[in-house]
Amino acid sequence: MSNGLIEREKEAILQTYKRLPIEISKAEGCWIEDIKGNKYLDFLGGIAVNALGHSHPAIIHAIKSQLDKFMHVSNYFYQEPQIKLAEKLKDMTGFSKLFFSNSGTEAVEGAIKLARRWGNSLGKTEMFGFSGGFHGRTYGSLSLMDKPLYKDGMGPFLPGMNVIPYNDIPSMEKNLNENTIAVIIEFLQGEGGIISAKKDFIDTLFELKKRYNFLIIADEVQTGVGRTGKFLSYEHYGAKPDIVTMAKGLGGGLPLGAILVCDELKDVFQKGMHGTTYGGNAVACSAGYAVLQLLENGLLEQVGNVGDYLNSQLNEVQWEYPNHLLEIRGKGLIQGILLDFDASELVDAILRRQIITNAASGKVLRLVPPLIVTDNEVSLFVHELRNALAEIV
Ligand SMILES: Cc1ncc(COP(=O)(O)O)c(C=O)c1O
Repeated sequence: MSNGLIEREKEAILQTYKRLPIEISKAEGCWIEDIKGNKYLDFLGGIAVNALGHSHPAIIHAIKSQLDKFMHVSNYFYQEPQIKLAEKLKDMTGFSKLFFSNSGTEAVEGAIKLARRWGNSLGKTEMFGFSGGFHGRTYGSLSLMDKPLYKDGMGPFLPGMNVIPYNDIPSMEKNLNENTIAVIIEFLQGEGGIISAKKDFIDTLFELKKRYNFLIIADEVQTGVGRTGKFLSYEHYGAKPDIVTMAKGLGGGLPLGAILVCDELKDVFQKGMHGTTYGGNAVACSAGYAVLQLLENGLLEQVGNVGDYLNSQLNEVQWEYPNHLLEIRGKGLIQGILLDFDASELVDAILRRQIITNAASGKVLRLVPPLIVTDNEVSLFVHELRNALAEIV
């Protein structure tokens, strides 16, 4: 049985996505079912979105309860779900105030605007991103990224935006100075291929910040909400940025993002200077609150434990294929395998065994399962990874 979705999509939707050939009928926990009744283990988790997996009862309950009250009223009104979630995020992070957006790239756009307003008043003009970074598809985000596929033929981009090499201390020392407004950084690059910032690189970044008085924006859109085993990934470094951008897991599957700012920046935006129609939607915020409650009630610790198990298993597989599996990378439940061949080949072989993964940056197999994934599901994945590797290498 097929509803012809694959053919219909081709006719109706711009062909920007390379989709997996699966016509979905439903999804629960870490499992996705297609319209033929095939079940797939989901190690993609809606691209690191479905923190609590699919159809988690706590999220469904939160959404349904809010739907019974009101759905969308706009930011002209005071809404408890929004304020409750903001208070919880403040408590969990120590940031002073926040702004809700709908998506990751909108959070980054808002952070860029806020940083520029702060920096312009001090006569600063330049912002920096790092090579391999990913911040989204809007012009501000793209201006701080270097991937040609996402930018070619779409210029001009924003002025005063620069990209310098990641994990390269001399280049950073050469480029950052008193004219620097802000630097945006993923402490662990997701789309870039699951690459962690080196400790001395981060230490130097914070020393330069002290010397030149610029802002550090941590893009935690992919790594936030417990993905690395800490609530936000910069916590692994004992460092505290000035601004944090969040999205993906925050809404538990509904569109929701946030810009968190430190005390010094809490009054940079005055009334009317920034806004959005949907950002902070009551239903999305209710779902988000349910996600954070579960994280606080033991899930964060579980991410660390299951992540360690996944990592030890991947290392064992690497010993069996030292020439093809070059490196196991990542933290918690964002891990990757650097291969000596195109990762899409392995993605396809794993998919034939009804497990969903994806490729990041060409040669890296990316694993971002729901945070509720169990040791048994990890074992099943590793078993099928071995079978897939035996087939193709
Ligand atoms: C680190 C990072 N920032 C920003 C974004 C953009 O988020 P969105 O697709 O919600 O705009 C992503 C998306 O993958 C991301 O990984």
